[in-house]
Amino acid sequence: MSSDDEAEEYLFKIVIIGDSAVGKSNLLSRYARNEFNMHSKATIGVEFQTQSMEIDGKEVKAQIWDTAGQERFRAVTSAYYRGAVGALVVYDISRRTTFDSVGRWLDELRTHCDTTVAMMLVGNKSDLQNIRSISVEEGKNLAEEQGMFFMETSALDSTNVKKAFEIVIQEIY
Ligand code: GTP
Ligand code: MG
Repeated sequence: MSSDDEAEEYLFKIVIIGDSAVGKSNLLSRYARNEFNMHSKATIGVEFQTQSMEIDGKEVKAQIWDTAGQERFRAVTSAYYRGAVGALVVYDISRRTTFDSVGRWLDELRTHCDTTVAMMLVGNKSDLQNIRSISVEEGKNLAEEQGMFFMETSALDSTNVKKAFEIVIQEIY
């Protein structure tokens, strides 16, 4: 087996889900390209980026999928989840409704993926401390209840973005 073939063994599919405008696309662009867009448009359909990291001296590639939070813009759900081994479930710490939706996103995830998916609950927009409406404690508790990792992130100032993705990738590996 050539070293190229071996590298191929470590390609993991990770999906990002959560309500519209929680920052899914910006988390991905911050992680994959170190870019942030203050005026990004709602995603239509599906986009993905492939990102490499090194674990134990081996190259591990994650193919990270991003779709629309808005129902009318979403792609075929079963295809989106097919083969996923990791998931980031994102809410916006300044908007309660996005936190309340987490349960529904988890139901959908569990319907389409088996139980071994590595899951991270992500409270994004941690830079918006002054209008926070979900405490860190609440996020932590929900994650614990649901058997997920937990992290607050900011795609805007980069806090914990790399960490959130890499914890999931590490867990899968
Ligand atoms: P859909 O594609 O509709 O599902 O939305 P999305 O979850 O991909 O959200 P998107 O990344 O497009 O971001 C929505 C808005 O939130 C944009 O105006 C972003 O600039 C802003 N945003 C994203 N992440 C952050 C963050 O960490 N902090 C702040 N303050 N704003 C953010
Ligand atoms: Mg988007």
